[in-house]
Amino acid sequence: MKLLFLNGPNLNMLGIREPDIYGRGTYADLEAYIRDFCGELGIGCEIVQSNHEGVLVEAIQAAYGAFDGIVINPAAYTHTSVALLDALKAVGLPAVEVHLSDVSRREDFRQVSYVRLACCRTIAGHGFEGYRMAAEHIKVLTEGIIAKG
Ligand code: DQA
Repeated sequence: MKLLFLNGPNLNMLGIREPDIYGRGTYADLEAYIRDFCGELGIGCEIVQSNHEGVLVEAIQAAYGAFDGIVINPAAYTHTSVALLDALKAVGLPAVEVHLSDVSRREDFRQVSYVRLACCRTIAGHGFEGYRMAAEHIKVLTEGIIAKG
């Protein structure tokens, strides 16, 4: 199975941006972490980060027919983007929403998530590990569907 990992705006600044909230690991560390656990789990992966909403929309569209699922941390676009929600709905792939921080304990404007409406699960507040939890969730879900035929 092959998963697309999508990361939204400012996640390329990990390690520098608000380390008390997002930790000291850099974006390169996150990529290495994802590649490592995908190797362990026997999952193929592609990792994309963009600060541009349209690039993220196009990456979701391109995932149709090419990936078995999407792990997405839309970052700030979580709270604003109907376009990302519609793209996820359009491709219909199993998707899990991930946040490094526990958004439920943060500002009011972070309590809204558009993409959540197209995701089978949300994982927040587990740092890098949340990406692994998301991938494992999609793996179990997909294998369950294959097993049921
Ligand atoms: C984030 C939470 C968002 O509210 C924020 O805008 C981000 C990162 C997280 O991973 O905790 O950029 O998605």
